[in-house]
Amino acid sequence: QDSLYHEKNRPQFHFSTRRGWINDPNGLIFYEGEYHLFYQHNPYEREWENMSWGHAVSKDLVHWDELSVALHPDNLGTMFSGSAVIDYGNTAGFNKGNTPAMVAIYTADNSDREIQCIAYSLDKGRTWTKYAKNPVIDSKEKWNSRDTRDPKVFWYKPGKHWVMVLNERDGHSIYTSKNLKEWNYESHVTGFWECPELFELPIDGNKENTKWVMYGASGTYMIGSFDGKAFTPEAGKFFYSAGSIYAAQTYTNIPESDGRRIQIGWGRIAQPDMPFNNMMLLPTELKLHSTKNGVRVFSTPIKETEQLFDRTNQWTDLKSDDANQKLKEFYSADKIRIKTTFKLSHATSAGFNLFGQRVIDYDMNNNTINGVFYSPNDMTSMELTADIYVDKTSIEVFIDGGAYSYSMERKPFADNKEGFHFWGNNIDVKNLEVYSAKSIWK
Ligand code: FRU
Repeated sequence: QDSLYHEKNRPQFHFSTRRGWINDPNGLIFYEGEYHLFYQHNPYEREWENMSWGHAVSKDLVHWDELSVALHPDNLGTMFSGSAVIDYGNTAGFNKGNTPAMVAIYTADNSDREIQCIAYSLDKGRTWTKYAKNPVIDSKEKWNSRDTRDPKVFWYKPGKHWVMVLNERDGHSIYTSKNLKEWNYESHVTGFWECPELFELPIDGNKENTKWVMYGASGTYMIGSFDGKAFTPEAGKFFYSAGSIYAAQTYTNIPESDGRRIQIGWGRIAQPDMPFNNMMLLPTELKLHSTKNGVRVFSTPIKETEQLFDRTNQWTDLKSDDANQKLKEFYSADKIRIKTTFKLSHATSAGFNLFGQRVIDYDMNNNTINGVFYSPNDMTSMELTADIYVDKTSIEVFIDGGAYSYSMERKPFADNKEGFHFWGNNIDVKNLEVYSAKSIWK
């Protein structure tokens, strides 16, 4: 009796598909007022199989309309991950009159190899024509590896050419092209795995001072420079996000007047007893900020998500015992946002539990959050700010304005006596806000 998109465990403010399995977001592109979300999809079952590109569109990155499958498996293989561009210059020759082609660059996976292919659409991604001379790259022999996949393509303005970042064996390769059909191998960075990304960001909002970010599927990244053919890392590898996130991708073709680097990641969150499986995490904006440790990627939910939440309560300067009393009222909420700032003055480790899970486990002596190294920018105040989103089966946490973030399954799905609860020698809760959450589904 549960209606579509309102089943018992259906995420209510995250995208999930009507039926079947989803994994990586693919072909994230903004075009003519629509944000496209393609994704790895098995339309038939809850398990990973029959990889196709599912398709949804949105005007605000929050409310989604699920359309029919965009790319179906063919005789070259199943449709693995990739990206999309708008070919304004008609470099590939697929344009029709004044209509530029939307070109998808994807991997076809078969039992022997993984090859890079292209397809184009002249009707805003609704129907697709595969290029007759696919594949455009077949590099199995070069790398003696079948792990050659997940092309991410963008237009490199200074050099007037296309750039592709491609997972090849043990890292990310860079290829260039004038026409999306013929590609030249340029360089390779080791130490990454699957779903490459490469983009430029201003530091602290200063467009005169930029750096490039390269990442792989797991949430680790490097910062460096890029000359159109090679990425040169400057520092070690860091995490921008951890936990359930995987295979995140950022939007291309966002207007310069907007200028944001918007990302959607796959949430590896099992959806028990539901006709669908997995979900997308909240869209976030990625920024570079200088910190005492150097320049780092910050990730925070995009401003469009604010419309989903209404603040119902706010308290300031409570002891955690009092805060826990206040939170009792919300123990059975399965869709809620909680913002808090707490101070570790009387405890060396402290945190926040939800439904019996340690959602925040902050260890001041070891400088870790949930076991991962984290050193707040302001060490003297010993304050930690968290923005926590709970949506049926998932929990997302953004620490200190997106300096670090992570996601996890929400277990168990039933009410739990422990509810939401601060722990750690009656610490100071400087701020506590509770928000109700709206559904994105009709
Ligand atoms: C990452 C990944 C990609 C691949 C796709 C297949 O989750 O393994 O490397 O293209 O999923 O579904």
